[in-house]
Amino acid sequence: MSIKSLIRTIPDYPKKGIMFRDITTLFEDPYGLSEVIDSFAAEFQDKKIDMIAGIEARGFVIGPAVAVALGIGFVTIRKQGKLPAETVGVEYELEYGTDVIEIHKDAVKPGSRVLIMDDLIATGGTALAAIDLVEKIGAEVAGCAFIIDLPDLGGAQKIRDRGIEEFHLVEFE
Ligand code: PRP
Ligand code: ADE
Repeated sequence: MSIKSLIRTIPDYPKKGIMFRDITTLFEDPYGLSEVIDSFAAEFQDKKIDMIAGIEARGFVIGPAVAVALGIGFVTIRKQGKLPAETVGVEYELEYGTDVIEIHKDAVKPGSRVLIMDDLIATGGTALAAIDLVEKIGAEVAGCAFIIDLPDLGGAQKIRDRGIEEFHLVEFE
């Protein structure tokens, strides 16, 4: 089974017209889960990454596993109001709404190279906000990695246009 064939599509969730790409079926499959983690680890093992930053919620499933594989730490980028210490926040637009994400100000050492991870990139609003957050706390974004890219929504291109490496495993039109 390929990674792509293990991802389930739910039409009209959470709103009419959205084809929701559901990665829970991929994570439930032992081959699928290990293939995802191994693919990310192989791609980034020689890229001098100091820390992985995962975006809530589904970036928390893959990010820590890849961090363990690379022997580095993991930092959480969370939805507003969830982090207990001093934070920096950025508001952004989603394919279906708006939201705010935050990071702890002291989460990474200044100048360290951070890999941002999430399950999916659509419009890029979330990932670009995450890039802003990491840069605001003085770190360098070494790349952004996703399981799924929805190229028609243009987010991955926006990341590349900022001169940042974008990596994904599968695409859905
Ligand atoms: C999804 C997905 C990404 C984001 C991508 O998360 O996990 O984080 O949307 O969309 P974008 O590229 O248009 O910003 P969602 O906002 O649904 O939050 P959740 O993971 O907490 O369910
Ligand atoms: N986040 C934004 N758009 C999405 C989609 N089509 N499927 C799953 N998660 C998403």
